[in-house]
Amino acid sequence: MGKKIVCTGRGGTGKTTFVALAAKYLGLHPLLVDADSDQNLAELLGVDPEKEEVRTISDILFDIQKGKGDEQLNSMPLTEKLEYLLNADCLYESDKFDMISLGVKWTKGCYCSPNNILRSIISKVANSYEYTIIDSPGGLEHLNRRIFSEIDDIFVILDPSKKALNNIERTKRITSEIGIHYNNLYLIANYRFNKNTEEYLKNINENYLGKIEYDPDLEEYSWNGRSLLGLSQDSPAFSSVKNIMTKAGYKTGS
Ligand SMILES: Nc1ncnc2c1ncn2[C@@H]1O[C@H](COP(=O)(O)OP(=O)(O)OP(=O)(O)O)[C@@H](O)[C@H]1O
Ligand SMILES: [Mg+2]
Repeated sequence: MGKKIVCTGRGGTGKTTFVALAAKYLGLHPLLVDADSDQNLAELLGVDPEKEEVRTISDILFDIQKGKGDEQLNSMPLTEKLEYLLNADCLYESDKFDMISLGVKWTKGCYCSPNNILRSIISKVANSYEYTIIDSPGGLEHLNRRIFSEIDDIFVILDPSKKALNNIERTKRITSEIGIHYNNLYLIANYRFNKNTEEYLKNINENYLGKIEYDPDLEEYSWNGRSLLGLSQDSPAFSSVKNIMTKAGYKTGS
């Protein structure tokens, strides 16, 4: 079974940047799951979902709920239909990585039956990849979607604030309450930490893996819509992610 990595943290801490750079580090054609409705991950990887005509999981659920879509599929059982639509319409495929975006409205509680089926289909798809990396929206609400109940590693990207520290305990509590199991929860300091605040993290009794250094190139890449996969090997942000992934026991496949 492939390894599942989830990146979480408060809004704007650098989660999506980390996911893109972790994908660059791992190589080996990972599956990326964008659980953020803003679909920033595609943007940071230089992909325009509209131009590529890839749809989100929410889009296909919405069609099914409204009875829209290809009439030829109407006679298919729901599970088969969802599996077909996910593979045909939602899976973005490229030579470096594949990607699925969940879209805006897919939350636990609505369209219950398709939700459960979709979870098992996404797991099935993910299991054919060596690595699956999930990018989350800010906050903890996304955990309710419970896309995967078995996770290898959770990476929490922190900003230097008390709220971010409180978030660590809440992440542990909520994952336990809703039945998400994981092997390791790792802390990562974002580029806004200084020596003092980083020292604090080093001294709390948690799995702290290091800091992501400030990288001036990220702004230029983002502004020009360039894929972060093209960032240089010795750039400050990528060097930091390499160190962090190595400490977490991941080998580079590139
Ligand atoms: N190491 C870094 N150095 C400089 N800027 C950075 C660094 N990491 C992230 N940023 C910048 O911070 C901003 C937020 O980054 P990013 O989108 O990765 O955060 P996020 O946690 O995914 O945000 P959101 O919660 O909105 O999804 C972006 O403009 C990004 O370029
Ligand atoms: Mg993001």
